[in-house]
Amino acid sequence: MLKPAQVLVTLVSLLLAFSGHYCSNAASPLQVGFYQGKCGANADVEEIVAGAVKAHFASDPTITAALLRLHFHDCFLNGCDASILLDGDDSEKTADTNIGLRGFDFIDAVKETLEATCPGVVSCADIIALATRDAVALAGGPMYKAETGRRDGNVSRAELVDENIPPPDISVAESIQLFQSKGVDHVDMTYLLGAHTVGVANCSFFQYRLYDFNGTGQPDPTMSPDLVTSLRSRCPKDATFENAANLDQNRTSIFTVDNSYYNQLKMHRGVLQIDQELTSHPNTTGIVDIAAESTTDFQNLFSSAMVNLGAVEVLTGSQGEIRTFCRAVNAKN
Ligand code: HEM
Ligand SMILES: *[C@@H]1O[C@H](CO)[C@@H](O)[C@H](O)[C@H]1NC(C)=O
Ligand SMILES: *[C@@H]1O[C@H](CO)[C@@H](O)[C@H](O)[C@H]1NC(C)=O
Ligand SMILES: *[C@@H]1O[C@H](CO)[C@@H](O)[C@H](O)[C@H]1NC(C)=O
Ligand SMILES: *[C@@H]1O[C@H](CO)[C@@H](O)[C@H](O)[C@H]1NC(C)=O
Ligand SMILES: *[C@@H]1O[C@H](CO)[C@@H](O)[C@H](O)[C@H]1NC(C)=O
Repeated sequence: MLKPAQVLVTLVSLLLAFSGHYCSNAASPLQVGFYQGKCGANADVEEIVAGAVKAHFASDPTITAALLRLHFHDCFLNGCDASILLDGDDSEKTADTNIGLRGFDFIDAVKETLEATCPGVVSCADIIALATRDAVALAGGPMYKAETGRRDGNVSRAELVDENIPPPDISVAESIQLFQSKGVDHVDMTYLLGAHTVGVANCSFFQYRLYDFNGTGQPDPTMSPDLVTSLRSRCPKDATFENAANLDQNRTSIFTVDNSYYNQLKMHRGVLQIDQELTSHPNTTGIVDIAAESTTDFQNLFSSAMVNLGAVEVLTGSQGEIRTFCRAVNAKN
């Protein structure tokens, strides 16, 4: 016998499948396996990337969170063009919002290996996308069909970060609009936020919820009192943010890409304001329920959402360039 909830999950999954969320985006200019046969007779680009991610993950499983966030912040400003990797006095990575971004050295190492094997072939933007996919799978998440064929951009400006990368207190309504402006709908948005099933947030991004929320002298009423207590002990009132907290408050799955984030939200244990509001906004609450209920639903729809994220405003064909070194645009000759 199917429980009513299971019937609902099945029906909604089917509906979503037919409305195109289940399949990869047919309009994407990218393709699966773009590098096949392009890196000499004996080398396989995706195998090289996968090997590097696997070796790194074995000693540092936090690489999954680092790469997921790097991929998101890359794609939401100038499209997925590796602009986030560029060094420079006013490049994107210097903006306050981006200070905590990690994984740059890892991407450099993968790029170095690829350049030694087939120089000038693989874009830095595709390295981020492929490495993210592999790291998600290693963390117990789905092995989705990541598309490739991106080229690297040559512009990276810190001043554009605030209008493109959402702050933790953005409302769900505003966030839906922002994602829509990138061609990512509210269903994909809700599954992409499921990336907060791994990784940490600096106390500075949620402390305002713990002591004097919105001038009330009280914590955010949508946060469970237990969580308020435990986050207060990690993030003391007058401290200077030496600490961070797990975004997924289920202790047993902090390194696992699973649907426990949504179950935590239903228990009012979302760390960021945007996380918790997904359970109360009318356009996302039902999606949270389904994702929390069904691992299969989460895996399928997180996968298609990641593929759609990876296609945002990409450069392809003769646009942009293939950088030699991910931190700098190629020298002109
Ligand atoms: C409205 C949308 C979003 C907001 C407001 C948001 C906000 C944040 C904030 C404030 C942090 C903490 C950063 C720090 O402490 O330095 C964070 C971490 C993180 N975010 Fe998001 N995020 C959003 C969407 C996403 C998406 C779409 C993804 C990926 C698909 C993502 C993946 C991550 C990951 C994995 C971390 C942990 C990073 C780490 O451990 O280094 N986020 N996010
Ligand atoms: C929520 O969904 C309704 C119905 O589909 C739509 O009219 C409305 O614009 C959506 N709101 C937001 C903030 O996306
Ligand atoms: C914050 O307070 C203002 C004024 O009292 C109120 O209009 C607003 O809805 C509150 N915001 C939240 C997120 O509670
Ligand atoms: C949190 O961010 C602050 C800056 O706001 C920084 O000084 C601190 O080192 C960060 N803490 C952690 C644990 O990353
Ligand atoms: C916490 O994570 C474990 C392991 O993934 C899972 O079995 C359990 O159901 C989760 N609990 C909640 C409340 O999400
Ligand atoms: C950036 O790339 C565009 C073409 O993609 C080119 O027209 C422009 O000259 C480049 N700018 C710099 C500073 O390299």
